[in-house]
Amino acid sequence: MTHWLNTGWFKRWRQPTRNSATSREVLSAAEGYRRWASSYGREPNTFQQLEARVLPKLLPDVTGRRILDLGCGKGRISQLALEQGAAQAIASDLSLAMLVDRECYEGPKLVSTASKTLPFRRHSFDLVVGALVLGHVEHLDRALAAIGNTLRPGGVLVVSDFHPFATLRGWQRTFEDSESGETHAITQHLHLFSDYVRELGRQGLTIDALEEVLWEGSPVLFVLRARKLPVDTTS
Ligand SMILES: C[S@@+](CC[C@H](N)C(=O)[O-])C[C@H]1O[C@@H](n2cnc3c(N)ncnc32)[C@H](O)[C@@H]1O
Repeated sequence: MTHWLNTGWFKRWRQPTRNSATSREVLSAAEGYRRWASSYGREPNTFQQLEARVLPKLLPDVTGRRILDLGCGKGRISQLALEQGAAQAIASDLSLAMLVDRECYEGPKLVSTASKTLPFRRHSFDLVVGALVLGHVEHLDRALAAIGNTLRPGGVLVVSDFHPFATLRGWQRTFEDSESGETHAITQHLHLFSDYVRELGRQGLTIDALEEVLWEGSPVLFVLRARKLPVDTTS
């Protein structure tokens, strides 16, 4: 059974026919967010609302800290961090269309976490947040290596995303294209928690908090927090 989970409107199409399921176009993240950008964040998004209940609780004290908001979209996390007293929040995203609407942050950067390196100095951030983004990245190992490199020893990473259980059930992140009215899915890669534990460990990071959020009795998203060892063991 395939479920379609529309994270924009949080609709689910129960038991769609095989044909209707397969006829939905699955877009790359770059193309999907290019098309979604004009309406992204304007409609109530239950998925984000559920996530927003949990993620702030796992954020460390950001007062005076330097934050990297990876896959920032419209800058939700950067804004939160600045409101909570962060010294600097760098917002970066793969999609120029998502970035151009932003108003309030310095240093917008067109950055893809798909590469093994990020255009930031080693150890330059106290906190990196990847909210609802890493499932779009095929190679989790590369993304976490790049993130690990930018975090200072003792720094913190907070990640939220579509739950692997939901991905395994065939649920997808979908949105309604405001121009065509069609519903599209955006590519979602499966990353198990064991992948996170292993790849974070390689970067000297240890998970110290993990929250799983249920919707109608099934896990739909997770938020994890990991801390980098106070002494950098990687070279
Ligand atoms: C669901 S939105 C989340 C936006 C924001 N983090 C939030 O929580 O409101 C996912 C964002 O990740 C960005 N994205 C997807 N793949 C990416 C990649 N490889 N590198 C950087 N950003 C990426 C998309 O362009 C989009 O803005």
